[in-house]
Amino acid sequence: MSGSRIVALGHYQPPKVLSNDDLAVLVDTDDEWIRTRVGIRTRHIAEGESLVDLATEAAQKALAHSGRTAEDIDLVVVATCTAIERSPNTAAAVAARLGVRAPAAYDINTVCSGFSYALATADHAIRAGAARRALVIGAERMSDTLDWTDRSTCVIFGDGAGAAVVEAQEEGAEPGIGPVVWGSQPEKGDAVVITGWDPVISQQGQAVFRWATTQLAPLARQACERAGIDPSELRGFVPHQANLRIIDAIARKLGLADAVVARDVVDSGNTSAASIPLAFSKLVERGELSPGDPVLLFGFGGGLAYAGQVVRCP
Ligand code: UT7
Repeated sequence: MSGSRIVALGHYQPPKVLSNDDLAVLVDTDDEWIRTRVGIRTRHIAEGESLVDLATEAAQKALAHSGRTAEDIDLVVVATCTAIERSPNTAAAVAARLGVRAPAAYDINTVCSGFSYALATADHAIRAGAARRALVIGAERMSDTLDWTDRSTCVIFGDGAGAAVVEAQEEGAEPGIGPVVWGSQPEKGDAVVITGWDPVISQQGQAVFRWATTQLAPLARQACERAGIDPSELRGFVPHQANLRIIDAIARKLGLADAVVARDVVDSGNTSAASIPLAFSKLVERGELSPGDPVLLFGFGGGLAYAGQVVRCP
């Protein structure tokens, strides 16, 4: 096999929307602070829908868009940091709901960079001949980790899911998923913390902000180099949706020419491992990207881990 490609995307967000004004009733905050510091206007919050519900909805849409069925899938990977159940894992639960027969099914937790890690492992499995067609899902119920009295976190995060159908390409075809650049700074791991049995998220916001705006652009550039493409040739840039100021700082440093930059954080907040497939799927659905367009995905966050790759738009 010469590699794999994304054939379709899908996404799902729970219907309940919280505005900045809604949050200003709960904590000492205001719309102006949230918009100027983070860029968020709204976020979706799950009520009565589980993590598996969100992941399954997104996966069903991706499958429908791909024209394939559950029977065609032999690998399911879910990137998430908010799974409550240890067994069965989220991937197995989603596979059971969809009726996927006998898949390899596993979860990955590298927090906000999870989708790019999951996509890389699916691509590697397909290249190795261990799978032919995968569902790769990023799904989060970040609201489970929120302290609704902590203004430094409860205004930032949201719930949602995005999914991709990934399949093998024939010999000689140009790879639709480029080489991954991944790594971490484990010595800085305590900058984003979600620990314990009833976990609450906390982060050293400024430390993560500094790391993201000073260290990541060269790594994102490396992902382009490894795919044999100059950043100025990118048609799309879909980074993790943590903060509009971080997204714009990395985009500026990359010297993008006429790439569409995903700014879904404005509507969806930070949905951790779901943010990249969610934002990517929306850009494709709105026709802002076209089939074959080179798009740089770049995830970063807790760990502090990062991963990115250039993919061809489905
Ligand atoms: O996705 C996982 C990876 N995480 C990230 O990438 C996050 C990166 N960091 C960030 O995006 C930003 O650091 C935050 C959005 C988290 C915070 O923005 P900031 O500009 O770094 O604010 P800060 O934490 O330095 O706080 C500045 C002030 C403080 O008040 P004092 O001490 O200056 O009086 C905070 O108490 O803003 C205050 N503050 C708020 N004020 C109104 C913190 N949260 C709020 C709030 N509303 N919601």
